[in-house]
Amino acid sequence: MALLLRRTSFYASRLFLTAAAALSVAPRVLMAEFCTDGKCNDEVEKAKLASEAADKYQFQPQDTIFSKIIRKEIPADIIYEDEKAIAFRDVNPVAPTHILVIPRKPLTQLAASTEEDIPLLGHLLWVAKNVAEKENLNDSGYRIVINNGRDAAQSVYHLHIHILGGRQMSWPPG
Ligand SMILES: *[C@@H]1O[C@H](CO)[C@@H](O)[C@H](O)[C@H]1NC(C)=O
Repeated sequence: MALLLRRTSFYASRLFLTAAAALSVAPRVLMAEFCTDGKCNDEVEKAKLASEAADKYQFQPQDTIFSKIIRKEIPADIIYEDEKAIAFRDVNPVAPTHILVIPRKPLTQLAASTEEDIPLLGHLLWVAKNVAEKENLNDSGYRIVINNGRDAAQSVYHLHIHILGGRQMSWPPG
């Protein structure tokens, strides 16, 4: 038993060192992508990596996982799309219904929007409202969330509106 434990911890530490080495050599920008793929559990760490990637590498929004979804280069459960916006299910749902509404325009975050984006921002909320209705969340209610920057745990630098529903939410959010 003791041997088994020692072996297990040996392999665990090997695994940790390998992961640590991979982390230090892999460009942070790749890590951010890697983590959005559902393999990185810590949302806050994920946001930190993505934020660092954005700072260090002038992260191009064209290169996020969401742009790949827009260009149909990677599959997504798309619920709605029009000329300005697209809505699809979050691959890591945190509620029974968890949908993202994003602009086709590669805006990195709400803070990066300008006055010319006012109609687009309104449109995104309108799409969120209609999608929520289609998902039968109208009567029970739903939460709309926009995470902006590191403290808010924004994990992908392409503006996205979360629609969360299907369970009782608490306040304040974590
Ligand atoms: C959604 O709720 C609003 C406000 O109660 C109501 O006006 C509207 O008709 C509802 N829509 C649907 C599809 O139930």
